[in-house]
Amino acid sequence: MSTTLIKGGRVVSATAEVTADVLVDGERVLALLGPGSGLAENADRVIDASGTYVIPGGVDAHTHMEMPFGGTYASDTFETGTAAAAWGGTTTIIDFAIQSVGKSLREGLDAWHAKAEGQCAVDYGFHMILADVNDQSLKEMDMLVGEGVTSFKMFMAYPGVFYSDDGKILRAMQQAAGNGALAMMHAENGIAIDQLVAQALASGRTDPVEHGLTRPPELEGEATSRAITLAKVANCPVYIVHLSARHALEAVAQARDTGQNVFAETCPQYLWLSIDDLARPDFEGAKFVASPPLRPKDHQDSLWKGLRTNDLSVVSTDHCPFCFKGQKEMGRGDFSKIPNGMPGVENRMDLLHQAVVDGHISRRRWVELAATAPARMFGLHPRKGTIAPGSDADIVIYDPAAEQVISAQTHHMAVDYSAYEGKRITGKVRTVLSRGEVVVDGGEYFGRPGRGSYLTRSTCDYL
Ligand code: URP
Ligand code: ZN
Ligand code: ZN
Repeated sequence: MSTTLIKGGRVVSATAEVTADVLVDGERVLALLGPGSGLAENADRVIDASGTYVIPGGVDAHTHMEMPFGGTYASDTFETGTAAAAWGGTTTIIDFAIQSVGKSLREGLDAWHAKAEGQCAVDYGFHMILADVNDQSLKEMDMLVGEGVTSFKMFMAYPGVFYSDDGKILRAMQQAAGNGALAMMHAENGIAIDQLVAQALASGRTDPVEHGLTRPPELEGEATSRAITLAKVANCPVYIVHLSARHALEAVAQARDTGQNVFAETCPQYLWLSIDDLARPDFEGAKFVASPPLRPKDHQDSLWKGLRTNDLSVVSTDHCPFCFKGQKEMGRGDFSKIPNGMPGVENRMDLLHQAVVDGHISRRRWVELAATAPARMFGLHPRKGTIAPGSDADIVIYDPAAEQVISAQTHHMAVDYSAYEGKRITGKVRTVLSRGEVVVDGGEYFGRPGRGSYLTRSTCDYL
C-alpha cells in the first residue's frame, strides 16, 4: 500500500469548500489535513494541487455501453467508454443491463456482466431494464436487489421493444415498494408517438427534425404524470430519467411539493442543445437524435431552474453513441430508423463546470449534481461521491482556469462526431485518481481495462 498526498488544492464538496491536503492510503482516503500540517511529509507521492479544485470523481448514473438498438450497437464498448469517462473526470458509471422479451432478468444481467468484466477502466454498477414484466421477472427483482442491482428502468416508449403497459408498470412498482428498489421511468407516451411517426412518414416527412416534432413535450409531460400517479398508487419511489421538457418538470415539481418520493435527472444535451440542432441540414440533425428529443430552446431556462431548486437532482449523460457514418445513416430517408442516442460521457464534468462559469449553478452544486447526488441516489455513498475518510480515493484535480475546445478530433469516445464540436470550455481535468491510482495526468492516460471493479449498490439514500 502506498500513500499519496494531494497538496494545497481547494477541496470542493456538495456542502463546503476548504483549502486542504488530502491523504490517500492505498485505495481509500485516509484524512483531510490542514494545509501544510506536515503530518504527511513522508507520503510516498506528493501531487501539487495548488490553484486547482480537488473534487470527488464524477458518477455518471446513466450510460449505455454496447447497447443494442435498432439493429446496431452503441459504438463505445465498456473498454472505450470507461476510458473516455476517466479522461473526462468520471470515475464511476452505472450502465443499464437489459432483459430481453421472453428471457429472464438473470440472463440479461449475466450477459452485461460478461460484457463488462475485465474491460472497465473505472468502477461500474448496473441498473436493470425490465422489458418483460411477468410473475417470474417480478420475483427475480428481489434477487437482483440482493446482488446490488437496486434500480429498475421501465419504458412507456418504444412499443414492441422495451415498452411496458400501465398494468405491468404498476406491478413492478408494487414489487419495488416491497424490496426497497427505485423504479426508473423513460416517460414518453410511446403509443401516441408511434401514431405521429406513422403519420409523418406517410406524408413524406422523413428528416431528422421529425424525430423531435413527432415526440411533443406534452407527451413527455403526460407520461411523467402517469408514472408519478402509478408510483403513488404503488407507494413506490420513482426516478424520471433523461427529463427534457418543462411539462415533465412541472409534474415532478408538483409531486415533490406534496411530499411524494419523486426524483428526476436531466442530461447535458437538454441544457446546451435544442431542436435547432435536430434541424441541421444535410442529415446532420441525425447526430442529435435521442429520446426524449432535444426541445425548443425555451425549455432550458426551466431545466436550469429545476437544477437549482433540486426538482432535478442529478445530471447524467444517457451516453449512447452511434457513429454518424454507417449507424446514424441507417435513417437516411426515414428518421424513425436513426438509432436513438448521443455521446457525452467524457464531456459532462466539463460542461457542468462551464455552467458554474456561466452562473447557472454554484461550484458546490456542480459537485453535488455530478458526483454526490448520483452516488446517494443509487446507493453508492459514502464509498463514492465524496472525499471523506474511508471513501474510495476517486479524486479529480480540476484546473478551473485552463481553456479547451471540445472536438471529435481530441475526444476519446469511440464515435466519429462530437455533439458539442467547437464549444469552448473554461476548466479542464488535470489528474484523475481511481481508487488511489492515477489513471489520467496532464494529458496522459495511465488506465487499463480491467482495473475497474463491479459495484454492489445499496438502496437509495434519499428515502
Ligand atoms: O435515445 C436514447 N435515450 N437512447 C438510449 C436509450 C434510452 O432510452 O435511454
Ligand atoms: Zn430512456
Ligand atoms: Zn438511456
